[in-house]
Amino acid sequence: MTVARAPVFEELTPVDDHPSPERVARALRTGICPVDRLFDRFLPYELRGPSSQHWTPLAVVARAAQWIAELGIGSVLDIGSGPGKYCVAAALSGEARFTGLEQRERLVVAARDLARLFGVGNRVSFIHGALGAAQLPAVEAFYLFNPFGENLLDAESQLDADVELGAERYEKDIVVVERLLCDAAEGTFLLTYNGFGGRVPEHYKEVRVDRELPNVLRMWQKSKG
Ligand SMILES: C[S@@+](CC[C@H](N)C(=O)[O-])C[C@H]1O[C@@H](n2cnc3c(N)ncnc32)[C@H](O)[C@@H]1O
Repeated sequence: MTVARAPVFEELTPVDDHPSPERVARALRTGICPVDRLFDRFLPYELRGPSSQHWTPLAVVARAAQWIAELGIGSVLDIGSGPGKYCVAAALSGEARFTGLEQRERLVVAARDLARLFGVGNRVSFIHGALGAAQLPAVEAFYLFNPFGENLLDAESQLDADVELGAERYEKDIVVVERLLCDAAEGTFLLTYNGFGGRVPEHYKEVRVDRELPNVLRMWQKSKG
């Protein structure tokens, strides 16, 4: 499918290298995609560096927001939400509600601060907990940006050593998310950016794909089993 690409808001850079949260929010609301560092500067200093590897790029947020709006999706759960970049930028880019699940408390604290700073606290919330242990809200869509991949990275590329990481955890988390997808209601959507390491259950049909982003973004919908 050919789709129009959101313009990259490079014009913000030369004239204003330090736009306010209101300006960045206005750009996202009007379908303009700022360069990532203009958004990342609102994260705590130590969480800006990991952004290019660990947090969703704004161009991906914009494409996913377009699909979410086209399909009338009202609620999304970001499994492994980090410091909230996807949830907050996606809320600014559309009308849906976003919940993030995150295992690291310091990232949940940063995510709540980010939502407050951008004034989207009424449509964005974060749960501190691990997949499989935390109670999850009923949602119309799941978003997965390869959340378990960090388990397989070398120590320098991992975010920190505050949580259990490793091949065994990776396998366990994939089993849990596959079960979650199997048990989801008919009609549930799944968005994956750079996959999640597991298999999308067979009753999910691919409804959108963008291969022109840094990694592949796909959207699936669960049909009748
Ligand atoms: C690749 S980052 C994605 C962050 C965010 N979704 C975004 O796109 O900007 C993955 C995040 O998932 C979290 N995570 C990984 N496994 C998890 C689990 N089993 N339960 C909760 N959070 C998890 C990590 O702590 C990390 O913050």
